[in-house]
Amino acid sequence: MVKHPHEKFPKSNGWEFFALEVSEAGTKIRDRGDNVVNLLLETPCLTCHQPATRFDFVCEKGHGCAPLPIDDQKIAEFQKADLRCTKK
Ligand code: HEC
Repeated sequence: MVKHPHEKFPKSNGWEFFALEVSEAGTKIRDRGDNVVNLLLETPCLTCHQPATRFDFVCEKGHGCAPLPIDDQKIAEFQKADLRCTKK
């Protein structure tokens, strides 16, 4: 998520969502804007982040966002397996 002036993305108070494709070669932007869909979850970013409007769309824990279907341990495993970091 990247923060812009409110007028640029009024629906999300200026936040632009990014969907990234990562590989050993680096990072490619698959989609960006305020209508981006998370392909794994098949849900628009904004749909889940919207309930955290009071917290400027930052979900963290307990800000009212729809929960992720994976836990912190699984997230850590994804991060460890990131091909951009594991390449020798
Ligand atoms: C199923 C609901 C859901 C969808 C869809 C979703 N998110 Fe989130 N997102 C969350 C939750 C919940 C957290 C907080 C996770 C935590 O801290 O445990 C989060 C955290 C984040 C964070 C870290 C900052 C924060 O808000 O806590 C970023 C950045 C983020 N999401 C970006 C995106 C982008 C970009 C997309 C679309 C490509 C997206 N999210 C789609 C629910 C979702």
